[in-house]
Amino acid sequence: MNALQVQQLKQFKHDITRFMMMYKFALDALETKIEILKEEFQLLHDYNPIEHTKSRLKSPESIMKKLMRKGGDFSFHSIKYHIQDIAGLRITCSFRSDIYRIVDMLGNQRDLTVIQVKDYIKHPKPNGYQSLHLLLEVPVFMSDREERVCVEVQIRTIAMDFWASLEHKIFYKYNEDVPSRLLLELKEAADSAAALDRQMERLHREIEELKEERAGHGEDDVQQIVINNQQFALPSVLLELIGETAAGERSK
Ligand code: GTP
Ligand code: MG
Repeated sequence: MNALQVQQLKQFKHDITRFMMMYKFALDALETKIEILKEEFQLLHDYNPIEHTKSRLKSPESIMKKLMRKGGDFSFHSIKYHIQDIAGLRITCSFRSDIYRIVDMLGNQRDLTVIQVKDYIKHPKPNGYQSLHLLLEVPVFMSDREERVCVEVQIRTIAMDFWASLEHKIFYKYNEDVPSRLLLELKEAADSAAALDRQMERLHREIEELKEERAGHGEDDVQQIVINNQQFALPSVLLELIGETAAGERSK
C-alpha cells in the first residue's frame, strides 16, 4: 500500500466511525427517553411496563450486504437512505397492552418522528411472528450539526420474544430451509404464545383492579417518597401543615 492509499484508508476509517457513531448517539438518546418513561410510569401506575431493552448496531459487513441486495450505491447518503435498521432497539414488555402504551408514549414525544408502524400483532406474519415495529427519526446534536437519524424499534412481549429467538435459531440452523413439520409446530407455538399473552393480560387486569380497591383503604408508607431507589422522608414541616389543613377541614 502506498502512502496515498494509507491516507485514504485512514480517512475512510474516520468517516465510517463518525457515521456509525451518529447511530450510536441516536440509540443512547432513545434509551434515555425510554428509561425516563419507565421510571415515570412506575410512579404513576405502580408497575413497570418494560421488562428490558436491548440495542444493537448493524455491523459494517451486514450494512454492505444489505446495500448490495437493495442495489444502492456506495455512499453514506445512500446507506442512510436505503438501510433503516442500522440502529436497532428491542423493547420487551410484560403485557400486550404495554406495547401500545409505549407506542403512544413515543409518538407523543415532540422531537421524535414516527415514520413507519408495522403491527405484526394485529396482523401476524404467516409463520406466526408477532411484534410491533416502529421506524423512528431521532434528532442527534453534534458539535457542528444536527442530524435526524433513523432507528428501528421492535416492541414485543416476553412470550413473543421467546418465540422469535427460537424461530431465529431454527431458521439459521437449517440455513433458511426449515422442514415443514417444524414450520407447522412453530406456527402452533406462536398461537400458544398469543393465547398465553391474552391470559396474562386478563390476570394482570384483575390484579390491577384488586390493587385499586385496596389502595382506597390502606395507608402504605405515606411519609416516604422513593426516587432512584433512594428513600426520602417527607419534611416534618410539610406533615404538620397537612395535619393542620386536615384538622381545619374536619372542624368545618
Ligand atoms: P428487512 O429489514 O430487510 O429484514 O426487511 P423488512 O424491513 O421488511 O423487515 P421487517 O420490518 O418485517 O422486520 C425487520 C426485523 O424484524 C428483522 O430484521 C428481524 O429482526 C425481525 N423479524 C421480522 N420477521 C421475523 C420473523 O419471521 N422471525 C423472527 N425471528 N424475526 C423477524
Ligand atoms: Mg427492516
